[in-house]
Amino acid sequence: MEKLSERLLRLRYSQTFVMSNKARDMKASGVDVISLTLGEPDFDVPANIKQAAIDAINENYSHYSPVPGFLDLRQAIAAKLKRDNELDYKPSQICVANGAKQAIINVLMALVNDGDEVILPVPYWVSYDEMVKMVGGRSVFIKTSYVNDFKITAEQLEEAITPKTKVLLYSSPCNPSGSYYTYDELKSLAKVISKYPHITVISDEIYEYINYETKHRSIAAFPEIYEQVAVINGLSKGYAMTGWRMGYSACPEWLAKACDKVQGQMTSGANTVAQRAAITALTTDPAEYRYMIDEFKKRRDIVYDLMKEIPGFKVLLPKSAFYFYPDISFYIGKTLNGKEIKDSDDFAMFLLDEAHVGSVGGVSFGSPECIRFSYAASEVNLREAMKRIKETLEKYT
Ligand SMILES: Cc1ncc(COP(=O)(O)O)c(C=O)c1O
Repeated sequence: MEKLSERLLRLRYSQTFVMSNKARDMKASGVDVISLTLGEPDFDVPANIKQAAIDAINENYSHYSPVPGFLDLRQAIAAKLKRDNELDYKPSQICVANGAKQAIINVLMALVNDGDEVILPVPYWVSYDEMVKMVGGRSVFIKTSYVNDFKITAEQLEEAITPKTKVLLYSSPCNPSGSYYTYDELKSLAKVISKYPHITVISDEIYEYINYETKHRSIAAFPEIYEQVAVINGLSKGYAMTGWRMGYSACPEWLAKACDKVQGQMTSGANTVAQRAAITALTTDPAEYRYMIDEFKKRRDIVYDLMKEIPGFKVLLPKSAFYFYPDISFYIGKTLNGKEIKDSDDFAMFLLDEAHVGSVGGVSFGSPECIRFSYAASEVNLREAMKRIKETLEKYT
């Protein structure tokens, strides 16, 4: 008899971790690999946030916090949502979790029955489809492509909705595509959603601050669907705090209570020291941390100029987040240096083996014709990586 559960057996490992581990192993064996696999800011945590954590330890914040987080942190989050997003939430509507990842799974567990449908615009963040499987749901994909900036339209959304649809889940700004939905686009999606009160939108806004063009917009700002939206956010990307595991959801009261119930049985709430530090982060003027975004933008522009010159890459200038997601369908079906390229995972493996550059194939983001490069890396490494890829592909094609 199989010891592992069917639920577990249905899950896949994150391809991001598969590729980053492979790159790390190659490096450990002496190969000079440049890894552009992980979506992780390479900055240190800002000094005032670190100090707040040190103070919290010295002040003995060492006991359980309330399950949805300290009240003053939830007040700080509510104030942030008002300040940055013009959203009105009470602290009772907020649930602080161990990262945005847990905040998303809390909401999915609260909403999804076996066989319920969750709409995922493609490309989607790798974990969404696996999380849907974990809660017994069924993902319904809406295909987009490079040609339409990887964004769905209101018509496509309406076509995908069935009586079994429970959730629409997306990230804007988007990992992996680097696109974001504009105010008008969100408005047209909100109009569709408002016609289907049985649907909840999980709006993952973790890359909110990393938008090079405009102020971030949340779909929760449209009053007609306020009761149908769970806003997800966190401190991993905007504050370079990936390891601190600080995320949160902001929901209608009924859903916030449900998240509290799930979390109470799963983790008893988030780390208290990180919660105290998060108060400092969220109450500091975001302009103080803008230097990280400016640096990402500089790197993006450098990579864009170099990537455009790589043969067979169809590349868009990403407007947000810190990823490039070029279409590499030119190489699919070809054999490069004896290696058959059936999809972009094969292509990513080829680049790792031949150019010693780590990336993540698009299969687990839902697009086997694209490949993801994170540019949360040093300028020197980014330049060298683009040079290696170009030279390798010129050699073999
Ligand atoms: C779209 C998206 N949502 C959520 C997360 C997870 O964030 P956290 O570190 O807060 O769990 C990531 C991390 O890569 C992400 O890209």
